[in-house]
Amino acid sequence: MTLLTIEGASKRYGQVQALDNISLEVTAGSRTAVVGPSGSGKTTLLRIIAGFEQPDQGRVTLDGELLADGPAAVPAHKRGIGIVSQEGALFPHLDVAGNIGFGIARGATDRDKRVLDLLDMVELDRGMLTRRPHQLSGGQQQRVALARALGREPRLMLLDEPFSALDTGLRENMRKAVARVLQAAGITSILVTHDQAEALSYADQVAVLRDGKLVQAGSPQSLYLAPRDRETALFLGDAVMLPAIIRNGHADCALGHVAVDGQHQGKVEIMLRPEQIRVVTDSSEQPYGGRVVEVDFGGATCTVAVSLDGVALPPILIKTSSVALPSRGDRVRLEIAGKAHVFVR
Ligand SMILES: Nc1ncnc2c1ncn2[C@@H]1O[C@H](COP(=O)(O)OP(=O)(O)OP(=O)(O)O)[C@@H](O)[C@H]1O
Ligand SMILES: [Mg+2]
Repeated sequence: MTLLTIEGASKRYGQVQALDNISLEVTAGSRTAVVGPSGSGKTTLLRIIAGFEQPDQGRVTLDGELLADGPAAVPAHKRGIGIVSQEGALFPHLDVAGNIGFGIARGATDRDKRVLDLLDMVELDRGMLTRRPHQLSGGQQQRVALARALGREPRLMLLDEPFSALDTGLRENMRKAVARVLQAAGITSILVTHDQAEALSYADQVAVLRDGKLVQAGSPQSLYLAPRDRETALFLGDAVMLPAIIRNGHADCALGHVAVDGQHQGKVEIMLRPEQIRVVTDSSEQPYGGRVVEVDFGGATCTVAVSLDGVALPPILIKTSSVALPSRGDRVRLEIAGKAHVFVR
């Protein structure tokens, strides 16, 4: 069932087209990640959903209720939508207990217990209840902001880069904890992030924004393996791109004959993810071989640069494990697993 529908939403600030005719659907109980470069319109999209901004055109519908139709709108506080903003924005004059308790009805008999439950949910220590926001780290402040938003029992939770202040290990733990909390409470969420790995691992649906436009939306797998264009491919991870000619479902390219997805013919550009390519040391002078020109030892993941025979292309960078790592100067051939993706022009 669809919980949220955005239809043709546009928003302009002076000369800047912050959002350009965006349409997106979010299924009830699901997790959506919105990714895109800085300034692509991610925060604007969340603010329009939350009701802090009105679209110039377009409609926002939540659970069958029309929230915005162009500038006509239901006010933010009546939408039942929680938001944790990029800045956190706690009340500086209230302590942690006061901040978390803010959204819970004054007369509620179990108010204190609910505050404690929320504090536990975001894995903060009870000793922090009497601290003010300025006595907390950035990451702790974000967790208080999340607990405060959860306290209102929203139908939809909007998270605008809530983990960006955390270091890598804590960030991953928090992301998983938040996903668990939201899932347990049955809350649908939209997470904005710069971090492609975070988006791919968090979401059921990833939406890519660029210059205010929705470039592509779909499952993490479909976007990673079949991105619409070069820029989207590179935004979601490393990629090897090669010119190719397609005949009968196979591409002829600098790596030899490679199976491809879709139905295409003629001159195209194909894409492989580096983990689809295996470097095999092979001193025989077979066609489609190459020579290792550089090896970057990176521990668990190493990078090998291979210059292919007889083609005027820059060396191909392949991620590989440190086991059986070739050396600089070695002759190699490249084995391909799975299908290459063909960009549709
Ligand atoms: N209130 C405003 N007034 C004028 N321009 C604005 C306003 N809010 C946003 N913009 C512009 O709209 C565009 C989209 O901004 P937005 O904040 O949505 O980007 P973002 O994708 O969230 O970026 P970031 O990743 O840096 O947070 C930017 O060019 C921004 O400068
Ligand atoms: Mg933003």
